[in-house]
Amino acid sequence: MKETVNFCEARASSSTANLGPGFDVFGLGLDLFYDTVSISKLATKNGKIKITLENNNKIPSIAEENSASLSVMKIAQKYKIKNDLDIRITKGVPIGLGLGSSAASSAAAVTAFNELFQCKLTENELLDFAAEGEVSSAGVKHYDNVVASLFGGFVIVRTFPTLQFVRINAPKDLILVVCVPQMVTPVKKTKIARSVIPRTIPIEDHTRNLANACMMVSGFLYQDTKLLTSGIKDIIVEPARKSLIPGYEKLKLNAIRSGALAVTISGAGPSMIAFTNSAKKAHKIGKSMEQVFADSKIQSNAYVCRAGGGAKVISKY
Ligand code: HSE
Repeated sequence: MKETVNFCEARASSSTANLGPGFDVFGLGLDLFYDTVSISKLATKNGKIKITLENNNKIPSIAEENSASLSVMKIAQKYKIKNDLDIRITKGVPIGLGLGSSAASSAAAVTAFNELFQCKLTENELLDFAAEGEVSSAGVKHYDNVVASLFGGFVIVRTFPTLQFVRINAPKDLILVVCVPQMVTPVKKTKIARSVIPRTIPIEDHTRNLANACMMVSGFLYQDTKLLTSGIKDIIVEPARKSLIPGYEKLKLNAIRSGALAVTISGAGPSMIAFTNSAKKAHKIGKSMEQVFADSKIQSNAYVCRAGGGAKVISKY
């Protein structure tokens, strides 16, 4: 029996990325699903990581391929920490469906590791290490899901010239309806969804998307749900990805007709997310979205939730 010296457990939330025009820049923490990661620090120092998947075997259990351990390995490398680790992952975020599943595991893992080894990482360092995990599913470090999973709320992130993020609380009346289809997606789904995005765009498209993004940020700053949702229109990435989502056009139409203020792909999909300020309409919006997936013989579940989320330590010894 290996001796555990210390232990820390943290959880981190699901998130939706892009929110229309904010590709790789906007993230929103969703107070809906949570991943929990516990890390045991062992006395032995061979730099070995063992991963146990508590409730799901659909994610990689090899340390080099798992988002949580990829992030942890990078911190351990930087701080020359050699202790063997037992990492236990309890998935709450649906996998590969556009709700920041890999990001939630990474965010929980860096939060737990930072606490366990008292690394005293800055928020930016936590973010950067958490983004390392995204390489496992997206092929590149993208920050929009991890930033929302770590810090919650609406978050704007940029990586150039330096890594920087701004967090804004969502308006109190903002309600999200997330429709999650029960589809089996490839392990590298995000990488595939990124490969269809155009590499060059007309300047007019850039201007329209930028204006929409600015309306969104203004809406969050003014706490004005109608203003922010008026900007949720993307004419660059979403048109390129819509063929990956069965019934995409109909689903948007149905949700709008049922009272949604805006509808977009959640992250790289295939989940779709609708925005409303009416708790009364939320249920109807969800049902209308589920119906479209059902028409394509795909079962789905619509969840009504609030913005929020974030990561926190839940136990340690
Ligand atoms: N911004 C990323 C993308 C989010 O759309 O590829 C992936 O969840």
